[in-house]
Amino acid sequence: MISRFRLLPEAASTIAGSVDQLYWFIAAVSAGFSFAVAGMILFFVVRYRRRETGREHPESDGVLSLEILWSGIPFLISMVMFVWGAVVFLEMRTPPADSMQVFAVGKRWMWKVQHLEGRREINELHIPVGRPVKITMTSEDVIHSFFVPAFRVKQDAVPGRYSEFWFEATKTGEYHLFCSEYCGTQHSRMIGKVVVLEPADYQAWLGSTERGGSRLSMAEAGEEAFGDLGCASCHGEGDGSRGPSLRGLAGSQIRLPDGTTRIADATYLRQSILQPLAVVRDGWDPVMPSFQGQLTEGRVLELIAYINSLESGGAAAGVSPGAEAIGENEETPWM
Ligand code: CUA
Repeated sequence: MISRFRLLPEAASTIAGSVDQLYWFIAAVSAGFSFAVAGMILFFVVRYRRRETGREHPESDGVLSLEILWSGIPFLISMVMFVWGAVVFLEMRTPPADSMQVFAVGKRWMWKVQHLEGRREINELHIPVGRPVKITMTSEDVIHSFFVPAFRVKQDAVPGRYSEFWFEATKTGEYHLFCSEYCGTQHSRMIGKVVVLEPADYQAWLGSTERGGSRLSMAEAGEEAFGDLGCASCHGEGDGSRGPSLRGLAGSQIRLPDGTTRIADATYLRQSILQPLAVVRDGWDPVMPSFQGQLTEGRVLELIAYINSLESGGAAAGVSPGAEAIGENEETPWM
């Protein structure tokens, strides 16, 4: 039993070492100051106790050099914590360009995960070892938080917006996945696991369809939904269409009626599907019906994957590029 005791969870990601070093530094400084302050209180209590009446020590108005010293040193130490923390934080927040993309949706009380290639899973996340993985995540209902202690990552899933984080596993194995934001009565049971596989095993897992498998990639599933929902009747390729063509839209600059521009990122695409009248592109009438309440967040992600797959000037509609093409496109607008 003793040998299983550990102060920190297992460290199984590239960032874990830096997080732990910073953690121990802050813990050591805090412990050092706590002992120093407590020790000096005890020392002064004894050293300057009242020995006989009528011989009180004179009060001091302060010593400037001492005050500069005990303000300056803590200031410098806290700046070290701040800069060090900021450096680690920025590293945690900046996914490498070659990251593999995975999509997650929090929902009371489960984690739903979609892989670009089409594989879906619930309360499990399979990833390959030694490859940066970027998770794009949202919530179907309330705020949840995706927490993998062994990776030292924790990120809120917020309804109505996409949040993004990344990690790279350094060891194969199974690791705890928790929800770390109180989200209702079953919050404590909203747990799962992250399964880190050798790259070849991961490819085999992706290809197997025995459980949660799908023969459609996310983009293909999105294309199917695009047809089922009748989107193509307005967002066609012809000049007479009532809505703009979506080819090449993802990640591009679009112009708004007030003359400003914005990037058509995933957040914009999601809003345009669910609240189409919130932001209408310059030159188009606000006539699109809302799909709010008709689509799950997973379905929205598939539609975005489909729109994302529509390269500008590409082949005619109906041709769906493979998921690989999306995953390796650095211009993907999943921001
Ligand atoms: Cu979801 Cu707590």
